[in-house]
Amino acid sequence: MDYIIKNAKIVDKRKTLMGDLWISDGKIKKISNNIDSVDKEIIDAEGKVVMPSFIDMHVHLREPGQTEKEDLVSGENAAVKGGFTHVCAMANTKPTCDNKETMEYILDKHKENGICDLTQISALTKGLQGEEFVNIDEMRKFTNLFSDDGVNVDDDEIFKEALKLSKEKDFKILTHCEPEVETIKRDLKLVEDVGGNLHICHISLKESLDLIKEYKDKGLKFSCEVTPHHLFEWDNDYRVNPPFGSKTDRDAMIEGIKEGIIDVIATDHAPHTQEDKENGAPGISGIEEAFSYVYTVFKQKGISLNCLSEKMSYMPSKLLGFSEALIEEGKDANLVLIDLNEYHKVNTNNFVSKGKNTPFEGKKVYGKVIMTIKNGELVYK
Ligand code: DOR
Ligand code: ZN
Repeated sequence: MDYIIKNAKIVDKRKTLMGDLWISDGKIKKISNNIDSVDKEIIDAEGKVVMPSFIDMHVHLREPGQTEKEDLVSGENAAVKGGFTHVCAMANTKPTCDNKETMEYILDKHKENGICDLTQISALTKGLQGEEFVNIDEMRKFTNLFSDDGVNVDDDEIFKEALKLSKEKDFKILTHCEPEVETIKRDLKLVEDVGGNLHICHISLKESLDLIKEYKDKGLKFSCEVTPHHLFEWDNDYRVNPPFGSKTDRDAMIEGIKEGIIDVIATDHAPHTQEDKENGAPGISGIEEAFSYVYTVFKQKGISLNCLSEKMSYMPSKLLGFSEALIEEGKDANLVLIDLNEYHKVNTNNFVSKGKNTPFEGKKVYGKVIMTIKNGELVYK
């Protein structure tokens, strides 16, 4: 089916323009004014914004083993509802995704019922124990992302070796730094010494940002992310790792975005049952409202939609080695349609994620994802 998105405000990292978008054979065939709509399904985008769909480098989909919290289908449905067409799922499943069998189980299940695209991340060490590496050559056949997220890799020698391996075997390490500042300090020193491909997950403190800035200014190559919830909220003791920072920390995160020190916004979507939350499980179910949290903050702080597109689509596409997430003729039609004039209250009754765990129930947020298109097909409306 050919679609024509009419009268859209088209926004990506590089540009903002008005026009029509013709989608054919899964691709953006033409961007122009007044494209003939004969034999095409019209999507009226008057007053709406079209952007590249979002790419999430950090989610927890809980399958296998904890499907009472989330499963691949519910998680991927939540993703497309949030405007994401690609997610990278962490390895802290049960059993841990540290072996070929578990990896194949996840990928097969995803293949059967997949709704968005999935990169399954491999654990870096067996059982996330931080002691013994997984069979990297074997897991590398399935993925270029390795992470023990959820726990820290405490042993300096192990982490140093991991960085060397990441360079040798061409993969990226996504680190959960806890304690945050100390671990980031160690990791960056090690990257300075031995190189490697490092991505620092969910930074939350001003001190972390200062360190990251210091090393980036020196020319060290690595990347980092912040979550929508750490941009949106501060001084809240709702259980999440890392915890919410102070107002100073949160304002630093916004400065980090503005100054280009923070590369990516990634959700760390971490669904839990109510019972597990009551027993202290850390995490927020956030992927469905991620855009609205970020947009609400950006609107208030005067940060552009181009910047939002850079942090939620373009930079993830670059870091993951995909075709650049931009709206250009010939690109895959991975798009999101947004109503910026809509505001609503966060209502977990509307979540399609099994995880209703959020500190933001009832909060008023701006902007809403109204349609998600993946490879030219409507995957959410
Ligand atoms: O809050 C968190 N929850 N942070 C993490 O790093 C892990 C995640 C989870 O798996 O629940
Ligand atoms: Zn983490």
